[in-house]
Amino acid sequence: MTAATTIELQTAPADATTVPVTRKRHINWALKAVLPIAAILLNGLLLFILVSASLSAGEGHIVITIATAGAFLICIAVIMVLAVSVRRPMMELQDKIARLSLGDMDVSVSFANRNDEIGDLGRDFNDMVAQLKASREEIQRLHQTQMSRAEHFATLGELAAGLAHEIRNPLAGIAGVIEIVSRDLPPNSPARSVIKDAKEEAMQINRILTDLLETARPKPPSFQVKDLGSTAEHAVLFARQQAVTKRIMIELEKGENIPPIDHDPNQINQVLLNLLLNAIQAMEKPGSIFITLRRDKDAVLITVADQGRGIPPENLPNIFRPFFTTKGHGTGLGLSLARRIVESHGGTITVRSQVGKGTQFVLRLPIARNGASSS
Ligand SMILES: Nc1ncnc2c1ncn2[C@@H]1O[C@H](COP(=O)(O)OP(=O)(O)O)[C@@H](O)[C@H]1O
Ligand SMILES: [Mg+2]
Repeated sequence: MTAATTIELQTAPADATTVPVTRKRHINWALKAVLPIAAILLNGLLLFILVSASLSAGEGHIVITIATAGAFLICIAVIMVLAVSVRRPMMELQDKIARLSLGDMDVSVSFANRNDEIGDLGRDFNDMVAQLKASREEIQRLHQTQMSRAEHFATLGELAAGLAHEIRNPLAGIAGVIEIVSRDLPPNSPARSVIKDAKEEAMQINRILTDLLETARPKPPSFQVKDLGSTAEHAVLFARQQAVTKRIMIELEKGENIPPIDHDPNQINQVLLNLLLNAIQAMEKPGSIFITLRRDKDAVLITVADQGRGIPPENLPNIFRPFFTTKGHGTGLGLSLARRIVESHGGTITVRSQVGKGTQFVLRLPIARNGASSS
C-alpha cells in the first residue's frame, strides 16, 4: 500500500500553469523517507505482538489489528506531510527551471517566503533569476549600443563615399583644364612649374578619393583560381617603373609546388602594389626589394622585404589603422585596405621590422577557400 501511494504521488499531474517537463524516473524519495519509519513501526508492532501474546487470544487480536492500522495511518500521514512540504516545492522548482531555460526571465518560486531550508533554496533561486535577468538586460543594452555604433559608421562611410564620388567628377574637369592650359603655355613660361604642382596635387586628391571610396565601399572579391605568380609579376612590373629612378631593384622569386590559388587577381595586385610602393618609399638609398612566393602546407606565403628605414616599435600597432600615415603626402589607407582584402580572402597579413634595417610583410593566403563558392 505504501508503494502504491508513492507511485500515485509520482505521477500526479503538474500544476496547470507549468510547462510540461520530462523527468527522469528514479526511486521515489518518499519511499526512501518512509521505509525507515515503516521499519521502526514494524519493530514496534513485533514488540507489540510479543507483549500481546501474553494476553488472552481475543484481546491480543484486537490490539494487533488496531496497532497495524495505526502504523499504516502514520505512514500515510508522513507521506502526505512530506509531499506537501518537500515534493511540491521541488516540482515547482523543476518547472520554473524549465521555463527559465526556455528564456522566461520573469519566473520566481512561491515558496521563497518559507522559513526553512527549502525557503532558503527558493530565495537563492529567485535571487539568481533576478541577477540573470539583470545581466541579460545589460548584454542586450551593450548589443544595441554596438549595433547603433556600427550603423553610425556605416552611414558615415556611405557619406564619405558619396562625397568622394561627388568630388571626383569636378576634379577630373579641373585636371582637364590644367592640361589644356599647360599645352598652350610657351615652353619657358614661369607658370609651367605652378601648373605642374597643380597637376600633382590634383592627382594626389584623386588617389585619396580612390582609396577612400575603396575603404568606404569595399567590394567583395571576385574569386578566380589563377596563378598567383602572374598576379605578383603584374604588381612587380608596375612597381619597377616607380623604383627605377631611385635605383632600387625589385626581385621576384617564385618557389616550387605553388598550385593555382583561389583569389581576386585585381585585389591581390592592389595589395602587393601597396606593399611594394611603401617599400620603395621607405628606401632612402639604392638597394633591393625582395618579393618571394613559397608554399606552406595549405597556404601560400608572399613576403615583401625591403632594406628601408624600418618602422619604429611605437608605430607598429597603428600602421594598419585607416588614415595612419607618417608621410606628408600619404593617405594612410594603403595598409588598412590591404589587410581588409587579405582577410576577405581568408588570409592574414603580418609585419616584422627593424629600424634602420628594413621591413618584412608576410601575406598568408589559403590555397582553397573553406566552403568555397564564388561571390
Ligand atoms: N615598408 C615600410 N617601411 C617603413 N614604414 C612603412 C612601410 N610600410 C608602411 N609603413 C608605415 O606605415 C604607414 C601606413 O602605410 P599606408 O597605410 O600604406 O599609408 P601611406 O603609405 O599612405 O602612409 C606609413 O605611413 C609608414 O609609416
Ligand atoms: Mg602606402
